[in-house]
Amino acid sequence: MFYQVYPRSFADSDGDGVGDLGGVREKIGYLELLGVDALWICPVMRSPQADGGYDVSDPRDIDPLFGGLAALDELIAEAHDREIKVTMDLVPNHTSVEHPWFTAAVDAAPGSPERARYIFRDGRGKDGAEPPNNWPSIFGGPAWTRVTDRDGTPGQWYLHIFAPEQPDLNWDNPEVAADFEKTLRFWLDRGVDGFRIDVAHGMAKPEGLPDMARVETKMLVHDDDDPRFNNPGVHAIHRRIRTIIDEYPHAVAIGEVWVDDNTRFGEYVRPDELHLAFNFRLAETPFTAEGVREAITFSLEAVSDVGAPPTWTLSNHDIEREVTRYGGGKIGVSRARAMMMVELALPGAVFVYNGAELGLPNVDDLPEDALQDPVWERSGHTERGRDGCRVPIPWEGASTPFGFTAAEQAWLPIPADWADRTVEAQLETLHSTLSLYRLAIDLRGTRPEFAGDRIEWYGSPDGCLAFRRPGGLVCVLNASDGPIQLPPGEVLLASAPIVDDRLPANAAAWLV
Ligand code: GLC
Repeated sequence: MFYQVYPRSFADSDGDGVGDLGGVREKIGYLELLGVDALWICPVMRSPQADGGYDVSDPRDIDPLFGGLAALDELIAEAHDREIKVTMDLVPNHTSVEHPWFTAAVDAAPGSPERARYIFRDGRGKDGAEPPNNWPSIFGGPAWTRVTDRDGTPGQWYLHIFAPEQPDLNWDNPEVAADFEKTLRFWLDRGVDGFRIDVAHGMAKPEGLPDMARVETKMLVHDDDDPRFNNPGVHAIHRRIRTIIDEYPHAVAIGEVWVDDNTRFGEYVRPDELHLAFNFRLAETPFTAEGVREAITFSLEAVSDVGAPPTWTLSNHDIEREVTRYGGGKIGVSRARAMMMVELALPGAVFVYNGAELGLPNVDDLPEDALQDPVWERSGHTERGRDGCRVPIPWEGASTPFGFTAAEQAWLPIPADWADRTVEAQLETLHSTLSLYRLAIDLRGTRPEFAGDRIEWYGSPDGCLAFRRPGGLVCVLNASDGPIQLPPGEVLLASAPIVDDRLPANAAAWLV
């Protein structure tokens, strides 16, 4: 089980209101108690933080905000002592505008080697005043920004699929690949156990950068016909990355791959490409038996032909938290608990996003002046963006910021009514969401009934689903309106109390 740490929001060790690597290290006992096998730590490299660290100005250094290189070394040592692996988030598709390559490119002339590391083009229309093509940025507005030449006149445009502070690299330039290889080795030599590769379906751009047929202006939306992503050239890049990773036999590469089509998704996890790729089906599916069954079948099919393990995730730092997606309040928490049990019953790799184990909801009423996601500005204050799922973890105590930081305020305010959701409040409470996660993770890791990499569907009442693992585990989800009779067997764990062999609505059970 991978546990995703959003470092800004996990724990603050130096009292500046922002979480850091020292904070992760201080909480390593908690992570051990939870039973995590590996951490995925969102970007902590040097960055002006225009997009929460996904704008990297030095890929081979740790930002002082997170404690510098020493803090990472200490965290790796401590995690390894507890047999927890550490994977880092790397961002090959783009850099920060503050990366020395980009500042040099802006200073250099069109056609120069400096500009050739990025994607600079002349504009269209009179005086080149129109962007080179019609691509929008994922965060809203055009995907091109015009630079000003040294003499003060408007110059070329550069491509940024994300924020203007995140210029896309030109992966056709061998220098770019060589530098990324250097970065991979730098971290692997420091003891990192692998990487989550950001926008792993990006990097390669189509020849001639053709216009989009249908301009997708909805923010943060991905579509298979989108020329900005999933171009065939990306696979040669992954094969090259894999040859480096293979020099470190313990290491793993996990790609963020927003590709819907199963065949094309599977291409990313062929034996000589990524080890794993995030499949977001489960996170995109509403709480219905039919939807969940389809998402599971689909995700298993996506990797079965290429022989890669499936992956499961209910949420991450880009997605509204599952408690809220499933309806919020008590019902949202019940459903999130049930879906966690479905997810952990499946074969393959499970990714848990920090705070999910506490049943945290999205925070949709953050004060406007606290919002930091570039989406907020880029949308002209019409879309709040992803901050609502990035609110810091409440650790202990009765008032905000709940032990997250010694500062008065966390970087995003933690709702005052989260006192009953803190780690402290849940740790020793038998029926808490945290306790359920701990039990489920423990059983998944120790019971022989979880053996086998297939599932077999069982017949089940309307609005429900049931499947069996070859080892003998049966998982039942009740997404209907009322209680259902459980099949025969011993109940190993249930997300809600079972009365007279009946599983309540919005709950799941494991039987053996
Ligand atoms: C990925 C990250 C997201 C980031 C984007 C640009 O989608 O998960 O948080 O904004 O890449 O790097």
